[in-house]
Amino acid sequence: MTTTPPRQSDALVLFGATGDLAYKKLFPALYAMVKHGALDVPVIGVASPKWQEAQVRERIARSLEEHGGIDDAQAFDRLLARFRFVGGNYNDAGTFQAIRNALPDARRPTHYLAIPPGMFETMISGLGASGLADNARVIVEKPFGRDLASARELNRIALAVFPEDAIFRIDHYLGKEAIMNILYFRFANSFLEPIWNRNYVESVQITLSEKFGVEGRGAFYETAGCLRDVIQNHLFQIVALLAMEPPVYRGYGAVQSKTAEIFRAMRPLKPCDLVRGQYAGYRDEPGVAPESDVETFCALRLHIDSWRWEGVPWFLRAGKAMAGTVAEVVVQLKRPPQRLFEDCVTPDDRANYVRFRISPSAAVALAARVKTTGKEFVGEQHELYLLNERSGEASPYERLLTDAMAGKGALFIRQDAVEAAWAVVDPVLANHPPALAYPRGSWGPPEADRLVEAHGGWNNPAIG
Ligand code: BG6
Repeated sequence: MTTTPPRQSDALVLFGATGDLAYKKLFPALYAMVKHGALDVPVIGVASPKWQEAQVRERIARSLEEHGGIDDAQAFDRLLARFRFVGGNYNDAGTFQAIRNALPDARRPTHYLAIPPGMFETMISGLGASGLADNARVIVEKPFGRDLASARELNRIALAVFPEDAIFRIDHYLGKEAIMNILYFRFANSFLEPIWNRNYVESVQITLSEKFGVEGRGAFYETAGCLRDVIQNHLFQIVALLAMEPPVYRGYGAVQSKTAEIFRAMRPLKPCDLVRGQYAGYRDEPGVAPESDVETFCALRLHIDSWRWEGVPWFLRAGKAMAGTVAEVVVQLKRPPQRLFEDCVTPDDRANYVRFRISPSAAVALAARVKTTGKEFVGEQHELYLLNERSGEASPYERLLTDAMAGKGALFIRQDAVEAAWAVVDPVLANHPPALAYPRGSWGPPEADRLVEAHGGWNNPAIG
């Protein structure tokens, strides 16, 4: 007699167990889940047969030591006690059979594909053919495809084996507290709505700056570039949460529909909307072509053709080897209609804005000018902090993995949203201006300034 499989996944299979993502994010997340009582099932790590189980276990320990440390020896032992390694090639049916053998009792496994996107098809077919996809869930790491056509194809492949509600497309930015707070802040308050539109908002800027370079991910970066790596997904998700209409019912399905509407309303990019940059020394990184034109920096101007946002430019920029590691949003409000005070006439005067700091710390600040004491009508710019830092935040991967294993799809991306986001960037993926050199430690090529010239220039976030 067959019984309904449990809702909660009863095993986790991690493909790409020796990769960069597993090392930096996934093992620390699994360890935190064990510590918090959210992971008590077998974990199978899968990677190339070059690896031995003992080496992978050592790598797990190193990963944890480098990313937060091991502060709970028992939790660490529990994680290792649940861990098994299967070495094998992904195009070999024997590998999938070995995984099955390692999981004799699993009835609802979750498979995490932390592997290069080029392998997705092989993996998904292997899972289907081996029976490992039965009642299972699959977590797919971004990038979901590399353009609109490949995203559609990837979806076709995935849907041939898994139903839509078993496919979890992960964008870890949706698991960040500071980003979830954008949604909350917008719709838990009433004072924002009257000004949150083209009548009051002059422009919006989003900066995601990273001080480090590609750090051994040169070969991956050559296939992606900054636009595909972080803009089409992470930054677009932030735009969608800032720009969306209010969800019409309580529940994340409503949020997903409204964010997908924003992607559909984004005007497809033209080459003149884009400035691409490449940091000095990128071409010397391992895995990078000597003549590479891949961008490690990208700035763009985006328009959302909707009733609310008509005419409001959205400026996005992201890059590696920049001045600091920081992510911030500034929603710039229009100036008062008349300049009544002399100290407010500088062209870069930004009296009122809302600033969301996403990382390394979290903050929400409202900016305004107030008069300084004295007989002159002279003022100062101040920020009113509504939130400054949060502690005890779970890592985005811990949160999202826990959700996926429980079958909760709220914080994952729907395929229609993925495709709509690709449709925006598709016209400039091949047809774009060349990448301009910029020095390490800068804010990107100076040419990026011309995009925002008429809007007071870039707002460089405070570093640190
Ligand atoms: C990843 C990108 O998706 O996001 C990386 O592939 C980038 O290149 C990272 O560094 C940024 O994430 P976070 O959480 O460190 O801001």
